[in-house]
Amino acid sequence: MPAFLDACHRRPTDFTPIWLMRQAGRYQPSYRAIRDKVSFLDLCKTPELACQVTVDAVEQLGVDAAIIFADILLILEPLGIGFEFAKNHGPKIHEPIRTAAQVDAVAETVDAEGELGYVMEAIRLARGALDVPLIGFAGAPFTLASYAIEGGGSKNYYETKKIMYGDEGLWHALMGKLSRALAAYLNAQVDAGAQCLQLFDSWIGCLSPEDYVRYVQPHVKSIFDAVGDRVPTTHFGTGNTELYPHMKAAGGSMIGVDWRVPFDVARARLGDDVAHMGNLEPAMLLAPHDVMKARATRILEQAGPAPGHVFNLGHGIMPQTTVDQVKALVDHVHETSERMRTT
Ligand code: CP3
Repeated sequence: MPAFLDACHRRPTDFTPIWLMRQAGRYQPSYRAIRDKVSFLDLCKTPELACQVTVDAVEQLGVDAAIIFADILLILEPLGIGFEFAKNHGPKIHEPIRTAAQVDAVAETVDAEGELGYVMEAIRLARGALDVPLIGFAGAPFTLASYAIEGGGSKNYYETKKIMYGDEGLWHALMGKLSRALAAYLNAQVDAGAQCLQLFDSWIGCLSPEDYVRYVQPHVKSIFDAVGDRVPTTHFGTGNTELYPHMKAAGGSMIGVDWRVPFDVARARLGDDVAHMGNLEPAMLLAPHDVMKARATRILEQAGPAPGHVFNLGHGIMPQTTVDQVKALVDHVHETSERMRTT
């Protein structure tokens, strides 16, 4: 079995497998060349191109897993929540959700194989072209709800929290719809060939543990329950390590660890009955090679000899990064982790 899947299952590996969140993106000249010709959404919706950038990243970097090229926001369209990516701005939701009538109008679920069939086709094509495992993914309901309600990115999530605290029934109605659609979408990705799934709850760190348990956890749990143990699942969030025990309780056979917490502290806290992914600070990819490598070695030491570590960043690669720097990290993690196992 490939090292990445062994590590997901907490089985021993000869080296620590590594992939990087956002490993396909603007930091690559090859990606920019494609984006000069097609918009981001057209790239996502053209399976041959989505497959190509998925595979390009693996070939350029030598990583141990691929992640299908798509975006967490794509599911909003079949749910009836229109959006666009305006040039050089983040996503923009056309009519941010603020009222009960708007929540009512959100679709009950999605026909993933139909309305998001381009993602399934990209998965099938990528499986045929890759010799490393392929990860499927979706955004978690809180993170998606925050985009749908705020209308785009946010610093403080006030509109989201206004609905969450102000109309709990409405909040749960929206989260329920999102979660049913996400469960169908993730299961369809496994049907199409995804060998691991990741749920991105990127902005969950703005909640306290108490609010997470009350307003979010049951919904996330319903998604992990719907996928079951068909494939390994990674539960990823940033910004608040106090949430880890509650995220673990919601589900996921692997937890994505933030760079703000020492990796050994996170591992001890989460326990050895889940695998751990992480946790290099993404800005380390902008640091001198020796500084980055020393920090990566430190993480491998903190991970220790126990199985179940997939090396990754604590969040996505930034556009300012160079391909050479990422390659140097991948090689360093492979070589150093292999040496640690034999000495
Ligand atoms: O290589 C991979 O990781 C697979 C592809 C992938 C993308 N987005 C491509 C993308 C994945 C897994 C995502 C997830 C995603 N999308 C998340 C969760 C991960 C995270 O970073 O927290 C979020 C929050 C989004 C929403 C999103 N998509 C934003 C806020 C933006 C604009 C900001 C930016 O970085 O430009 C995007 C656009 C996006 N998604 C790009 C890529 C490569 C850049 C688009 C471009 O080519 O201009």
